[in-house]
Amino acid sequence: MLDAASVLGDRLTAAIHAAFDLEGVDPVLRPSQFADTQANAALALAKRVGSNPRAVAAAILEKLDIADVGEVEVSGPGFLNITVSPQWIAGQIATLVADERLGVPRQEPRTIPIDYSAPNVAKEMHVGHLRTTIVGDSLARTLEALGHRVIRQNHIGDWGTPFGMLIEHYLEVGADSAEADLLRTDPNAFYQAARVKFDNTEDGGAWARKARERVVLLQAKDPETIEIWKGMIAHSVEYFHAIYSALDVTLTDEDLAGESFYDPMLADVCQELIDKGLAVESDGALCVFPEGFTGRDGNPVPLIVRKSDGGFGYATTDMAAIRYRAQTLGADEILYVVGASQALHFRMLFATAEKAGWLSRPDGSTVTPVHVQIGSVLGEDGKILRTRSGAPVRLSALVQEAITAAGAAVAETRPDLPEAERAVIAQEVGVGAVKYADLSVAHDTDYVFDMERMLAFTGNTGPYLQYATARIRSIFRRAEVDPEQASAPVSITEPAERALAMALLGYGATVALVGDQQVPHRLAAYLFELAQAFTSFYDACPVLTAPDEVTRESRLTLTAATLRVLTAGLDLLGIRAPEQM
Ligand code: ARG
Repeated sequence: MLDAASVLGDRLTAAIHAAFDLEGVDPVLRPSQFADTQANAALALAKRVGSNPRAVAAAILEKLDIADVGEVEVSGPGFLNITVSPQWIAGQIATLVADERLGVPRQEPRTIPIDYSAPNVAKEMHVGHLRTTIVGDSLARTLEALGHRVIRQNHIGDWGTPFGMLIEHYLEVGADSAEADLLRTDPNAFYQAARVKFDNTEDGGAWARKARERVVLLQAKDPETIEIWKGMIAHSVEYFHAIYSALDVTLTDEDLAGESFYDPMLADVCQELIDKGLAVESDGALCVFPEGFTGRDGNPVPLIVRKSDGGFGYATTDMAAIRYRAQTLGADEILYVVGASQALHFRMLFATAEKAGWLSRPDGSTVTPVHVQIGSVLGEDGKILRTRSGAPVRLSALVQEAITAAGAAVAETRPDLPEAERAVIAQEVGVGAVKYADLSVAHDTDYVFDMERMLAFTGNTGPYLQYATARIRSIFRRAEVDPEQASAPVSITEPAERALAMALLGYGATVALVGDQQVPHRLAAYLFELAQAFTSFYDACPVLTAPDEVTRESRLTLTAATLRVLTAGLDLLGIRAPEQM
């Protein structure tokens, strides 16, 4: 990697090895007040090697070869203060500029199914699904960029007992009716209409009986019923995909692996759990009691594999899914980007899968499941975001509202642009604002949905970053230079040039961190800092009116690299960078 911390970290680890014959010791790099970075390893190592920290630091220093990078000195109780040289920075920038990956490493490829979005058929996609969709999509993009084989898994809720009532209703209204169309436009309304029929007792419960019979037919794969069910799912999927395309989310039809997909595997999963002695009868139901899960009453908490009525549920499906992902998809890692409220479910699921032996392979390698917990989106009252009438906020309405607001802002700032062009910008800025607001917060913390704040052109917002890229493009238009061609050597003299260059070199390490630890908010924070470093640079260092041609070209290179990194980073967040704003 190109950044100072990665390069110095490797050199220090090598020096520690040479000095003490210890492998892979963390050099403990920390920010320093007096240098670019300080290595604190000597303090931690002193005890281990039975010496004092200053002597340890001196021994490391003796073996440390960083003459090409910069200077190092021992300070205080045994810190190694390191300052990198302007020549080294310039050389690293040249490497970055010549690298189409901008310093993003190619990691040892792993197979990583990512379970995200996962809305439910005939239910509105709400802001909770918004977050799992946006965070999951960003992780998918990032892990792909790092060279992994990502398998998107949209685990939609398309199976289970409510489908008797939904199919029966769909059959009655007809596939081509306005009522059926609600699945595409207002799924909750469709669900409610089915529910009303189901709950109606005036017919002596005849309709509800029909609905229950329909469940049996569905589970028995009655061809006519499956046909109707498929039509219904297709309507609903159209609705999901309209939202994905509005949000610029990479999920497609091919990524659908809903609950129904696992139905044929459920009986076998049960049998395997029984055979392995993991599933036992309890009150007529078949349950697994993974170790270490006790309720408040002190009793073990069950994961229900088969209900007392013989039906399978959410947990059974997830057991089939984890087995399938590990064994059939060949996962090395499985990410579940799902609400934090389901944390217990996933802990129990992972514990069961482990016990069942699904997470280890004959060659000794293991599968790591991770629940990427998603926090809640709150209203200004600090409670789960709802409409004034108390209904869950509809995702489609929310996105539309953001686009409209962005449109109004663009009409004001750029009245000179043709209407059609403004509409494209409004779309990109509105969606970018919503996505960035979501991604800039750690995925497991709650945040307050504040449309006005997320659409602001200043502060840590999507539009601010988009604007930074548009502004850089306008610099190149004025310079009549193609930013793709700006690759002249850079020279680092001003502090603001140095700060910007150092920030640029950090891109690859940041992307790697985001993939390794599932933390897209770190990329958001990085991009924001980079945009700020650029602003300081642009204020302090004239580019187009630089004192001489060499300086001008050097600064144009830094400016072009900033544009490339910002655009690439925003792309990993799933946010477009408009050409002008
Ligand atoms: N459909 C579920 C919901 O809306 C989320 C499913 C998450 N994925 C899973 N494998 N359980 O809450």
